[in-house]
Amino acid sequence: MNNVQLKVVIVGTGYVGLSTGVCLAYLGHKVVCIDKNKKIIDTLKNGVATIYEPGLQDMMEKAKKNLIFTDTLEDAYPDTNVFIIAVGTPSKTNGDVNISAVEKVAEEIGDILNNNCRPVIVNKSTVPIGSARKVESVIKTRLARRDIQCKFFVASNPEFLREGVAIIDTLYPDRIVVGADETPAINTLRQLYEPILEQNFSLPLSFQRPAGFDKPSFIVTDPTSAELIKYAANSFLAMKISFINEFAGLAEKVGADIKQVAQGIGLDKRIGTRYLEAGLGWGGSCFGKDTRAIVYTASQYNYPMELIQAAIRVNYRQRLNVVEKLQSIIKVIRGSTIGLIGLSFKPNTDDLRDAPSIDIIKKLIELGARVKVYDPVALNEFKRQFSELAVEYCDNVQELSKNCDALVLITEWSEFSSIDWEKVRGLMRQKVFIDGRNMFDKAYLEKLGFTYQGVGR
Ligand code: UDX
Repeated sequence: MNNVQLKVVIVGTGYVGLSTGVCLAYLGHKVVCIDKNKKIIDTLKNGVATIYEPGLQDMMEKAKKNLIFTDTLEDAYPDTNVFIIAVGTPSKTNGDVNISAVEKVAEEIGDILNNNCRPVIVNKSTVPIGSARKVESVIKTRLARRDIQCKFFVASNPEFLREGVAIIDTLYPDRIVVGADETPAINTLRQLYEPILEQNFSLPLSFQRPAGFDKPSFIVTDPTSAELIKYAANSFLAMKISFINEFAGLAEKVGADIKQVAQGIGLDKRIGTRYLEAGLGWGGSCFGKDTRAIVYTASQYNYPMELIQAAIRVNYRQRLNVVEKLQSIIKVIRGSTIGLIGLSFKPNTDDLRDAPSIDIIKKLIELGARVKVYDPVALNEFKRQFSELAVEYCDNVQELSKNCDALVLITEWSEFSSIDWEKVRGLMRQKVFIDGRNMFDKAYLEKLGFTYQGVGR
């Protein structure tokens, strides 16, 4: 490897910050990961990953000689080349994004820069249009207070990694987008990502390069376009999911199979097969937040984003369709027992942010159902966050099935593919199964005597 080793500081150790920090350290850079939460830092210092992300723990171990965890920016290298801001940017109730944590970090960075450094400050958190400018002006103000003449650069470098496959997405991305106005910033970020752009790192055993993977493109643009690329990408994917879900509803009415429709359109390369799985719609920390944020931004320009607004409406309607299906099959929800298979917003994560399970549980409880739940990983997180919801926790699918009038598949964890349906059938009161992710074979379950309803089939 002839890559340049950079000194990198990452502020925020959530999914994006920690996965990125660990991967950059693995690739040979010197990385300081900072979080103001001391408990998180203590755990990380002990070599334990603080988020559930397959393979992260192992990568942390492999990268540990290049990794420092601390709770203060004062521990940053005095000659840090790149500061990456990866703190939370939560939604406000009107859909706008709260970037106060980003601004706070910018202030702190402004307070530690010295006369000799020439760092690049990177916005990696998903931030509203104009945030690169904002960060620049905050840092300038802080430097002026101390009369420091530091030439720094601000760049927007949006993150596209998915939870559950964060390491793979970081090491083998489709593209890396850098929004910066000045050449030194672009050059530094090219050096930062050189091992990924050239794919010249030693492959971690557990994360082999995907077959047919090409070197990623390095897209250089202005900061505003980079910021908009992130919103456009997530809005497009969200819209694609809502598109197939809307057609799934129609497929149910006319008697078509949405899986075949998705395949039939997806093989047209202009459309593509991915993000066309009909189901309960999207959840998670990004699609809901980002679609609302871009609608809000556009509204400030008096520009309605009609497509995105419709995609949002379709998504949330999709969750309640499950309850309507239950009503049409078992008729009376009050007094019935419904078991939810899976809680997290998607498999391989314990993340419950904007998870369809939450809306469905609330509606079922409101209608008077007794609700039982099981998830391979997210049960504890659910107990911690939603202790007010009166549900019964189960340790496995069989315990969940006991005396249920209906089971609903919420999350398509791979372990559910080995559910023993004959056993489950014997434990249920009524044999109703709503397959919220089209994971199972309708014909097989119907043969076993289940009333089966998928999404769009
Ligand atoms: C997403 C984006 O993919 C990523 O690029 C961005 O940076 C962060 O947001 P993530 O939220 O981790 O990543 O999950 P993703 O795998 O994209 O799935 C999002 C949601 O869409 C999940 O709830 C998933 O179940 C749902 N989904 C996805 C579908 O319903 N159908 C599909 O075909 C694909």
